[in-house]
Amino acid sequence: MSRLKAEHLYKVFGRRPEAAVRRLEDGASRDELRADGTTAAVIDASFEVEAGQIFVVMGLSGSGKSTLLRMLNGLLEPTAGSVLYDGRDLTALSPRELREVRSSNISMVFQHFALFPHRSVLENAAYGLEVRGVPRREREERAAEALELAGLAGWETSWPDELSGGMQQRVGLARALATDADLLLMDESFSALDPLIRRDMQDQLLDLQKRLKKTIVFITHDLNEAMRLGDRIAVMRDGRIVQNGTAEDILVRPADDYVASFIQDVDRSRVLTAGSIMDEPSAAVPHTTATVDADTPVAELFTTLSHSDTPVAVTGRDGEPAGVVTREGLLAALGEQPHAATEEVTARA
Ligand SMILES: Nc1ncnc2c1ncn2[C@@H]1O[C@H](COP(=O)(O)OP(=O)(O)OP(=O)(O)O)[C@@H](O)[C@H]1O
Ligand SMILES: [Mg+2]
Repeated sequence: MSRLKAEHLYKVFGRRPEAAVRRLEDGASRDELRADGTTAAVIDASFEVEAGQIFVVMGLSGSGKSTLLRMLNGLLEPTAGSVLYDGRDLTALSPRELREVRSSNISMVFQHFALFPHRSVLENAAYGLEVRGVPRREREERAAEALELAGLAGWETSWPDELSGGMQQRVGLARALATDADLLLMDESFSALDPLIRRDMQDQLLDLQKRLKKTIVFITHDLNEAMRLGDRIAVMRDGRIVQNGTAEDILVRPADDYVASFIQDVDRSRVLTAGSIMDEPSAAVPHTTATVDADTPVAELFTTLSHSDTPVAVTGRDGEPAGVVTREGLLAALGEQPHAATEEVTARA
């Protein structure tokens, strides 16, 4: 069973929202509704998130990402459709039950994380627990553990203004982690950070995720961030999910021109894997120079293939030979994309 499931979710702002949903179901467009002063923020969104997955929602400004996220934790009531958390329909819970699920199972991390200036870093990290009435000693212990997980050990007694922007954002992450919530909802949590710090936070999140195995819904408008973090990526356009797949699906088989326009700037060599671009092992190529497993990013094949005409052997999950990657195959998969390492390979071809 999936941990989180959205079924035909709609959110319409404005007058007579239910009538607007029926019109959308009958094929009306978002623009037609807008002419009547009604905004269809989310239209017929369905997806599932498995426990331990990072599910990324990506799309341009106004595409409905935040509205979707707020329905997932019950902050906003869907106009139609349902949200199932461990099989329980959040939309059918009483306000008290919903508060209970929200406070014990779900945590949000926002883009601009507001720390209380007159509380220590530790007290800030413990805030979510304080609201839940957890006794001081226990909440300080748990907050200290969370700060350590977020890479802030030693900063417990500092004040927020002594921390850099990236560190303050880590306190936000620590606050969410301290609550033990299984489901983390992150809305553009890293978007306000400098590129290098942002990358660092992405690494930290991936590293944490390996150990903690939370279920994460992460919103971003940055495709590179989506591709680095997402086990699955849902691309939203004008309120609708237009594609839901792995980074590779989106790169190799974009659903439409909108999705394709996002992927132009992506470094394919980091997303594509040896397994996705390999050719059948054939008798015609009896010799191989190295052996890699199917999950290896193709970026790691550049050096080998630029120094040798012999293909690289690829093995599957079971360790058995699965295929070969040739220099020509590699270049074809990367397409026209200019890339320093591609030039390195091309120079020899
Ligand atoms: N409370 C509201 N009342 C009316 N319209 C709203 C409300 N909240 C959002 N909208 C509209 O719904 C649409 C989707 O907004 P939303 O904030 O979900 O987009 P987003 O993808 O998160 O955008 P951004 O990347 O800018 O954060 C927008 O047209 C927005 O103006
Ligand atoms: Mg938003």
